[in-house]
Amino acid sequence: MRRIEKEQFLREVLGNEQPPAHMARAVIEEKLRSAILDGRLPAGIALRQQELATLFGVSRMPVREALRQLEAQSLLRVETHKGAVVAPLINEDATDAYALRILLESEALRQSIPKLTAQDIATARHFIEQLETETDYSKIGTLNRMFHMTLYSAASNKRLLKLVEDGLNEEERFLRFNLEHMELGELSQHDHLELLRMAEAGDIDSTVNALTQHLNRGVDAINNYLQNRPVEVSRPASVSRKRALAQ
Ligand code: NI
Repeated sequence: MRRIEKEQFLREVLGNEQPPAHMARAVIEEKLRSAILDGRLPAGIALRQQELATLFGVSRMPVREALRQLEAQSLLRVETHKGAVVAPLINEDATDAYALRILLESEALRQSIPKLTAQDIATARHFIEQLETETDYSKIGTLNRMFHMTLYSAASNKRLLKLVEDGLNEEERFLRFNLEHMELGELSQHDHLELLRMAEAGDIDSTVNALTQHLNRGVDAINNYLQNRPVEVSRPASVSRKRALAQ
């Protein structure tokens, strides 16, 4: 893509409204994240710090921070000579990511359950209720993340919680894929209710088992997909195909 075309493309996808200075990093990160998750920014496109800084009328610092966050969530990867590049929607290391999440989230759950308050349980239940009626994929991803984080929120190790949250941010992408291709939505809700019930009862081992099963459904879905995948897996579905699938 020529430079002018790229500028034009980024402006169409991201807008060029200047964010307030103190929110620049968060606003830019969120704009990029949602454009990657819904496929408007396709895999392989390079995101250069200076291009984005110029687009939003900010310095390179908040842009660099936003890109770093997205890289931690595996939405971007750094390639030699190209810099930060939008990562493919799904690839082999997705199952490794899930395996790691099972380890980290099980530990977070163990630490958190004994300290969960009635208010935490009520908050988690509220997210499940919202998930019942939500149809927007990106909002479903966010609600799922918030439900899980609420269950882990009382864990004493805050660095562990940060890693867990990075993993959940990454799952927003898988979840979108799962919901579209595997119709896992209802199954997930059943799992969520079970998790909540066991956590409320304070039964640590059962809750950890239920969480492992819940996350393994994601692993199975991805393995299935990778075994039967179409030839060009790194090319995102076209917007019209996504719309058709979403109906
Ligand atoms: Ni879930």
